[in-house]
Amino acid sequence: MTSALGDWLRSQPSLTGSPPAFDVSALPASPAALFEAWIREAAAAGVPEPHAATLATADADGRPDARTLILKDLDDRGWAFASTRSSAKGAQLAANPAAALDFWWQPLMRAVRVRGAVSEATAADTAADLAARSAEARRGVAPGDWALWRIEADRVEFWQGAADRRHVRVVYERDGAAWRHSPLHHPEAPGDSPGMDLRVGG
Ligand SMILES: Cc1cc2nc3c(=O)[nH]c(=O)nc-3n(C[C@H](O)[C@H](O)[C@H](O)COP(=O)(O)O)c2cc1C
Repeated sequence: MTSALGDWLRSQPSLTGSPPAFDVSALPASPAALFEAWIREAAAAGVPEPHAATLATADADGRPDARTLILKDLDDRGWAFASTRSSAKGAQLAANPAAALDFWWQPLMRAVRVRGAVSEATAADTAADLAARSAEARRGVAPGDWALWRIEADRVEFWQGAADRRHVRVVYERDGAAWRHSPLHHPEAPGDSPGMDLRVGG
C-alpha cells in the first residue's frame, strides 16, 4: 500500500534534461580538469549557483550529516569550502576529518561526487577567504571561528544521465600522486542498469 504522497512522488518526473556531448575517449588525466569543464558548462547552460553542493560529514560516532554549501576553490590541493569551526560540520570535521561533496546540475543530467580526507587551510588562506566575503557576511563571524577546509579527493565520480537510461559513469581513483585507470564495464541490461561504468586515471 502506498500513501497519497508516495503516489504523488512517483508521478513527479525524474531524470529530465538534456545531456551535452561527453566524449569519454578524450578524458583529461585529472578529475579537477573535468570538474572545471563541467561546472563551467553548467553555468553556461544557465544552472543557478552551480557551485552549491551537498557536503556530507560524519561525527565521532560515525553518524552521517549533510548540508548545502558553496565551493570556494579548486586547485592541486583540493576542493575548498568554508564555514565556522563552531558549527556542527566544524565539530564533525575536527573529530573525523573526511568528507564528501555532491553536485547535481539537473538540466544537464550531470552529477559529480567527490570524496576524501579533509585538512584545514593555512591561516593566510582562511583570512583571504574571510576578507573576500561581504562586510555583512563577515559581521556575524566570531574572531578565529572562520575556517577554510580542503577535500583532498581520492575518488571523484562523474555521472551523466541519458533519456534511454544508458547513463555514463566515469570514476577517477587516486593511486599515490597519480590517478588510476581501471577497466571499462558495459552494462548487460542497459534499461535497468546504473549505466556504463568507466574508470579512468593518469
Ligand atoms: C545555497 C546555500 C549555500 C550555503 N553556503 C554555505 C557556506 O558556504 N558555508 C556555510 O557554512 N553554510 C552555508 N550554507 C548553510 C548550510 O547549509 C548550513 O545550514 C550551515 O552551514 C550549518 O550547517 P551545520 O550545522 O551542519 O554545520 C548554505 C546554504 C545554502 C542553502
